[in-house]
Amino acid sequence: MIFTSPPYIGLIDYHDQHKYAYELLGLKNNETREIGPAKNGQSGQAKQVYIKGINEVMLHTRDYMTKDALALIVVNDKYNLYNPTDVGFREVGRVERHVNRRTGRREGAFYESILIWKKI
Ligand SMILES: C[S@@+](CC[C@H](N)C(=O)[O-])C[C@H]1O[C@@H](n2cnc3c(N)ncnc32)[C@H](O)[C@@H]1O
Repeated sequence: MIFTSPPYIGLIDYHDQHKYAYELLGLKNNETREIGPAKNGQSGQAKQVYIKGINEVMLHTRDYMTKDALALIVVNDKYNLYNPTDVGFREVGRVERHVNRRTGRREGAFYESILIWKKI
């Protein structure tokens, strides 16, 4: 089983958020390879680039999974970009969750889903 929490599209610039850590620890900055950074927005083109990146990760991960293994993916897929059959999975369940223990100060209620996929 894999359990993953990929970046949401166009919401956070992770490399910017953790810039101090890269500098303090002398880590290579892979900013140009970040999937779905906020700075790329949520345009039609950004959506295409985002799901291409996510699908590449899922296909790569799938190579290391046994048949029928589960992939649990935390998403807020308001644009319906995640399609299991595009990457060799089928959906077997979905958990909807109200994210009500947030430390960040965002306005409004926030929901996310946990997609439950099985390798085919
Ligand atoms: C929603 S966060 C989840 C982080 C982690 N699972 C956790 O719970 O702390 C999404 C993570 O995906 C990372 N990410 C974005 N693009 C990536 C890529 N191309 N390869 C690997 N990680 C990436 C981000 O830097 C961020 O840390």
